[in-house]
Amino acid sequence: MMPEHSLAAIEAAVQSRRAFCASFCAVIAAAALPGQAQTPPLAEKAPDPQPVKLTELTRAEMTPGKVVDYRKLGAFYLAADDRGIFALTAICTHRGCLVLSEAPTGFGCPCHDSAYNLQGEVTEGPAKLPLRHLEVKALEPGGLLQVDTATTVPPETRI
Ligand code: FES
Repeated sequence: MMPEHSLAAIEAAVQSRRAFCASFCAVIAAAALPGQAQTPPLAEKAPDPQPVKLTELTRAEMTPGKVVDYRKLGAFYLAADDRGIFALTAICTHRGCLVLSEAPTGFGCPCHDSAYNLQGEVTEGPAKLPLRHLEVKALEPGGLLQVDTATTVPPETRI
C-alpha cells in the first residue's frame, strides 16, 4: 500500500501533465486552423554591406546566350544576349527562392515553378514581376566586369 502523500504527489503530477498537454494541444490546434495560422513574415535580410561584386570575366568573354552563375557570390546571374551584357538577380519575385539557370532559354524557380525568359520576364507564374536587372560596369576598357547588386537598372540596359 502506498503512503497518502505519495498518492497526492502522483495526482499533482498527473494534473500538471494534463495542464501541459491541454496548453500544448491548444497551441497546435490554433496553428492548424485554416485562416488562423500566422504566416511567418518573409525573412528580411539585411542589405549586403558590400553589394559591388567583382567577377572574373571581361566583356569579350560574354558572348550572346552565355549565362554565368554568381548565386554564391551575390545571388545574381551575368548574361549576354544580342544587345549586350546584363545582370539579373537570382532572387525569384514570388517568394524569394533562388532561380536556376535553364540557359539559353531562361530561368526556373524550383519552389513553385515560376519561369522567366533570358531577359528576366515572367513566362509562367505564380511570379508576377520580372527579375531585377542589376548595374554592370567594366572596371576599365577591357577590364573585369563588376555587378552592383544594390542598384536596379531598366531591363533594356546593356553594356
Ligand atoms: S518562390 Fe519562386 S515560384 Fe515561388
